[in-house]
Amino acid sequence: MTTNKLEGAPMLVIGAGIMGAGIAQVAAQAGHPVMLFDAREGAAAQACSKLAGTFDGLVGKGRLDAAAAQATLSRITPIAALEAAQGAGLVVEAIVEDLAAKRALFRQLEALLAADCVLATNTSSISVTALANGLAHPGRLVGMHFFNPVPLMKLVEVVSGLHTEPAVAQAIFDLGRAWGKVPVHARSTPGFIVNRIARPYYAETLALLLEQAATPQVIDACLRGAGFRMGPCELMDLIGHDTNFAVTQSVYDANFQDKRYQPSLVQREMVDGGLLGRKSGRGFYRYPAGAGALPVAVHEAPATAREVVVHGDGAIADHLEQAATRALAPQGWGPARVRDSGWTGLAVDEARLMLTDGRTAGALAATSGRADTAVFDRPLLLPAPPGTALAYAVADAAGPGWRTQAGAWLAALGFKPQRVEDTPGLVAARTVAMLVNEAADAVLQGVCTTAGADDAMKLGVNYPAGPFEWLARWSAGEIAALVDALDAQYRGERYRVSPWLRRLAAAPQ
Ligand code: NAI
Repeated sequence: MTTNKLEGAPMLVIGAGIMGAGIAQVAAQAGHPVMLFDAREGAAAQACSKLAGTFDGLVGKGRLDAAAAQATLSRITPIAALEAAQGAGLVVEAIVEDLAAKRALFRQLEALLAADCVLATNTSSISVTALANGLAHPGRLVGMHFFNPVPLMKLVEVVSGLHTEPAVAQAIFDLGRAWGKVPVHARSTPGFIVNRIARPYYAETLALLLEQAATPQVIDACLRGAGFRMGPCELMDLIGHDTNFAVTQSVYDANFQDKRYQPSLVQREMVDGGLLGRKSGRGFYRYPAGAGALPVAVHEAPATAREVVVHGDGAIADHLEQAATRALAPQGWGPARVRDSGWTGLAVDEARLMLTDGRTAGALAATSGRADTAVFDRPLLLPAPPGTALAYAVADAAGPGWRTQAGAWLAALGFKPQRVEDTPGLVAARTVAMLVNEAADAVLQGVCTTAGADDAMKLGVNYPAGPFEWLARWSAGEIAALVDALDAQYRGERYRVSPWLRRLAAAPQ
């Protein structure tokens, strides 16, 4: 099986819904003659007319060449029966997400098509191994998992099950690349790469909401401040809580109900109540208004201090030093710097404003004996653009002065401070640590490579960085310590450090 054999080969796309229509378009644009079949009479022809309408619009706006549009459309032929597709060299299946329906279809196809015709499935959650079971030639079945909208999203997960022949997976990988996509190899495990690694983005937010640690608006602002294009609450509202809950439930069940993937009561209640997000007019937010602007918090200027010391080494401490130098300049003095104190942050006289290491402000205050302790979230974009939302929490034992001064200092350092409950790992640090941890387990289990995970998360869900890029800017030891601190607080299976990360943390630097 070679790439050459698939490039330009006659193709059969089955299922003319959102995904099938998109796949047919992309394949036809890449030069394949495409036959499009749907069990619902007229659906394939309808998809073609819809595409013609879209192309007309694009041609009208000068964004697509009329001849190219016409050539693409002429390559797609709706067919009324699968028997018409006998010459196909490649099938991409995008029918309903149902194991029995897909299995029955592949068996039917085996009886109709040549023994070397590659069978690809666009399933987003069904095991490719299970789909191949019972086929006469199971080695030719492979996952070709596109993302919605197919013409725009670059990522394709090329999913291999136990039966998949490596040459078949490679041929699909090369074909994806020839179509201008970024293919990534994945092993068939629940959620493949993107839908698995992304779970904590939603789960940590839902856990924070369950504890009433912060509002959806604040969590969204903090994660946008960490570089994400959309906060988790607005994103869940966009995806639809029913869909998001179903994916979580499927990954949870497929992992034998590993608590790591446990769905949330918060989301369950929203689904039960029909608060599905944008599509139902209300989710975390009401639509069309949406999230709206964050309430304006006015922070007083920091009170005059006798001494300000920036603690710690590395990029975050450097950023704090520069910001504190700017903040103190009008008073004619600057901060001192201590690099080897074992923590990062700001000491303002006796009070401490500490970068989260996963412990709560209360726990840090108890350890140091300094009641006036606050923790702040990890700034993930450095240098932090002015006005970056950043979560912080103040120890219960702190005096009234430090309760307002902690926020005042963060504001003076250029952040938009967001006070949250004193919860371990706050918002961005906790979320990103869990994303890295999940990605580390995916690599440990051979689901993907580190580079594959980075590509998949950046291109499949538009993350501002890949998990292993975050890891390179942070440290395995610190991430493991943060997840351990979450585990110490919650005692369960969710916050289980990946052995891959643990091993990296133990390796000499
Ligand atoms: P859809 O509901 O828009 O389209 C499915 C189409 O398949 C319908 O037109 C239906 O009439 C047809 N169909 C159903 N059973 C059939 C059969 N036995 N033979 C022929 N046609 C049949 O669904 P959508 O969203 O396009 O999803 C299709 C597949 O792609 C599913 O496996 C889904 O999990 C997967 N997928 C969906 C994504 C999404 O964002 N919608 C993203 C990635 C994968």
